[in-house]
Amino acid sequence: MATRRIIRNLALVGFMGSGKSTVGRLVAQDLEFQFVDTDSLIEEKAGISIAEIFATEGEEAFRQLERGMILELAKKDKLVIATGGGAIMNPENFASLKSHALVICLWANAESIHERTKHQTHRPLLQGEDPLGAIRTMLVEREPVYKQADVIVNTELRSQREVIAQVRHQFEESYEGTSGRAES
Ligand code: S3P
Repeated sequence: MATRRIIRNLALVGFMGSGKSTVGRLVAQDLEFQFVDTDSLIEEKAGISIAEIFATEGEEAFRQLERGMILELAKKDKLVIATGGGAIMNPENFASLKSHALVICLWANAESIHERTKHQTHRPLLQGEDPLGAIRTMLVEREPVYKQADVIVNTELRSQREVIAQVRHQFEESYEGTSGRAES
């Protein structure tokens, strides 16, 4: 028997700088859902920034906090969840999100991501000597996983307004409310 999947939430995945938080916040307003950002929730819980967690405890410690946070969100509903760009690289995180949320990937190419992120300093993985090279390498590694999202929205070809409309439309097609509906 196929596992019953009830869409109660919307999860945005995709590379750093793909617009998950900006788009997520606006879509949440439209849907009258609560917007949450896993990075911000982790920072609130830890009492320090993501950059400080990476610097003092290392990436692995961050990934554990991220995993715990994603598993906690599975209990909730009416959320728009912006995830950190590396979150779904852990298959357990991806499976958890898919169990309750429509997973939409915001896609952008390496050059656009570099343009959008090059003046920002809060992302430890992009602070090296060659951020564009790092973006290209990580994007190649991550692309096969991002492509397993339920929906991929290419942000290159659309205005922000169109991206929001597309995300919202896709979500409304699959949202089952909090009561759920049996799969046929
Ligand atoms: C990361 C993305 C970041 C944050 C952390 C690691 C990644 O989130 O979780 O710096 O591995 O791609 P954003 O995608 O919101 O920048």
